[in-house]
Amino acid sequence: MSLARTFVLKTSSLPLVERMVRRSFLFRPLVRRFIAGDTLEEAIKASEALLAKGLRISLDYLGENTRSEQEALDAKATYIQMLERIAQVPVVRDYNANPVGPEPLNISIKLTQCGLDQGEAFAEKNYRDVLEVAKGFHNFVRIDMESSDYTDRTMAMIGRVRPDYPNTGTVLQSYLYRTPKDVEQVIEWQARTRIVKGAYLEPPSVAYPEKEKVDEAYVQQAKELLLRGYYPAIATQDEKIIRELNAFVAENKIDKSRFEYQMLYGIRRDLQDSLVAEGYNVRIYVPFGDSWYPYFTRRLAERPANAFFILKAMFKG
Ligand code: FDA
Repeated sequence: MSLARTFVLKTSSLPLVERMVRRSFLFRPLVRRFIAGDTLEEAIKASEALLAKGLRISLDYLGENTRSEQEALDAKATYIQMLERIAQVPVVRDYNANPVGPEPLNISIKLTQCGLDQGEAFAEKNYRDVLEVAKGFHNFVRIDMESSDYTDRTMAMIGRVRPDYPNTGTVLQSYLYRTPKDVEQVIEWQARTRIVKGAYLEPPSVAYPEKEKVDEAYVQQAKELLLRGYYPAIATQDEKIIRELNAFVAENKIDKSRFEYQMLYGIRRDLQDSLVAEGYNVRIYVPFGDSWYPYFTRRLAERPANAFFILKAMFKG
């Protein structure tokens, strides 16, 4: 992991820095670039503009690590509200009348927002409740992967829940040493899996510290999923990797309908559009809600130039 990235992740977790960033209007334009809005309606509006360009969407209600059962129940209520609201979007209505291919607008959720810190059985019940509603709407719910403290529990829960709800899947992070084994597991399950590099601050005992190693593992794991997985999601903004995988897909005669690229809202919009023009499925991860701080700092850490822009603005007063 680069020094700059570690620095941004560590500094941003200090309460004083968090208070400053949250309060200052200086950060608003950058926050707005990465986050579609505070409300579900704002996120739907942003999503409709992207759908009109031929992109697909995964909506994310921001928030993680609930501190009480009530907070988790409130998050579950919001997830269900999202699924109900999505079903009213005209493109989704058309899709539901004849559901062929991947759904235009699905949701991504976090187990720690379902109450995992309050108890595994409690979180699983909430997750299953959301899946039951999603099933009624022919929709799909993905579990985002959080820090390595939760990887085992996330994989185990997916293993328990998927036989009842095939409309779910998860995310694997190529920076973790354990991931090749998890890739084999999701291939065995034929579970829809998003492969990412990984966004959390992890110790070298569990994750590669060197970016080249993470990138190398990423390409290898993405190729395995493309060859043997079920509708994998290749989630990256790394154009070099995307071009390499496009060549791999062509060489191996993998149909473009058998996988999708995924990118984050507000990042590399030019690349999102050019991939759609080349006939690839592209889904944008659209976050909304007022608990944007941890998500925002992970985005800053990925591109230290963003953070330096902020520091400069802070010192200018
Ligand atoms: P990398 O960080 O090497 O960046 C490659 C290039 O992309 C950069 O050179 C730059 O051009 C551009 N870029 C990347 N990030 C940028 C930014 N913040 N601002 C501006 N430009 C940027 N992680 C996780 O741990 N659990 C999860 O569940 C998810 N879910 C998820 C969903 C989706 C759809 C995506 C795209 C990503 C995630 N991630 C995630 C985040 C992921 O782990 C990773 O941190 C980011 O995707 C950044 O890595 P890249 O693959 O883009 O490569």
